[in-house]
Amino acid sequence: MENLEKRILPQSQRRFLPPDENRLGFGDISSDHMFVMDYYDGRWQRPRIEPFAPLAISPAAMGLHYGQLMFEGLKCYRRQDGQLALFRPRDNFKRMSRSAEMLCIPQFDQELALSALKELLLVDQNWVPTSAGTSLYIRPFVVATEPHLGVRPAREYMFLIITGPVGAYYAEGFAPIKIYVEPEASRVAPGGLGEVKAASNYAASLHAAEEASKKGYSQLLWLDPSEHKYVEEVGSMNMFFIIDDEVITSPLAGTILPGVTRDSVLTLARTWGKVSERALSIDEITQAADNGRLQEAFGSGTAAVISPVGTLNYKGKDYKVGDGGIGSLTQRLYDEIVGIQYGSRPDPYGWITLVN
Ligand code: COI
Repeated sequence: MENLEKRILPQSQRRFLPPDENRLGFGDISSDHMFVMDYYDGRWQRPRIEPFAPLAISPAAMGLHYGQLMFEGLKCYRRQDGQLALFRPRDNFKRMSRSAEMLCIPQFDQELALSALKELLLVDQNWVPTSAGTSLYIRPFVVATEPHLGVRPAREYMFLIITGPVGAYYAEGFAPIKIYVEPEASRVAPGGLGEVKAASNYAASLHAAEEASKKGYSQLLWLDPSEHKYVEEVGSMNMFFIIDDEVITSPLAGTILPGVTRDSVLTLARTWGKVSERALSIDEITQAADNGRLQEAFGSGTAAVISPVGTLNYKGKDYKVGDGGIGSLTQRLYDEIVGIQYGSRPDPYGWITLVN
């Protein structure tokens, strides 16, 4: 990429120590370098790769006060032959552009962002772990940096990409999780920011999720914010349910994130059987569970990939999903998606972008 400034650490100053890949959690370790680009004087400027370090921004930076802050999540996979692969990266930058639109953040060049990401990955390629189920998590984000305390869209921003090696998102690994169905609180509002990756959506989820966690549920499933009747998403994942062999997920009606993994699941599952994007009420799910027709439930997301759900709790009652273990379609989707990502299975949809 032309005009990309690079300030790369000499090998002797790099922090890299091969992490114990069996113990990699999620999101605690940062690689040596990051990508940074500034917006001022009406345009994005000075794209650069520099050592990972704390940012110098004003305490009056508008993003810290009024939440003009958006992010993405994707992963880089190391394959058997040493190649580094990205999964549908253009979809992430496209969604980021939509987030920018909704948050009044200036548009950026999506191809430039992808080229910069590839350069960053080449600089820090020894940080991409090798064990099965591990990857390098990539976190692009934009924050408003203009120092100003009036409420309006900022005129200055920073676009960053940081990365770090990760294992499974949930402590359980690829194993059934327990989900609490939130009966009252709302994460987003109709006509609001639910369909984009605004940091504020995650802040809005914390209080209820903490309460669910105290009750022993590792994730919280949101119902629609108007009637609290239809299932929506988990916050870190989109949700799928299988009832009477029909694979059902919520439609993209403005309050849930259009997940890249969600779209991949839909694409694969449609070639295997009946799939519906339709409103699905929690009552339909609990009734199906009561009479043995709720066969499987799982979440999909970049961080979590495919995550089986073993138990749902709604209004004080636990409902077992299937036999409480990993369902056969859940397993098949996991194997197929992970196989495409790591290159052990063919990529008929052209989802993979190679880095090196
Ligand atoms: C992802 O799946 O990459 C996400 O962004 C979800 C979560 C870690 C916030």
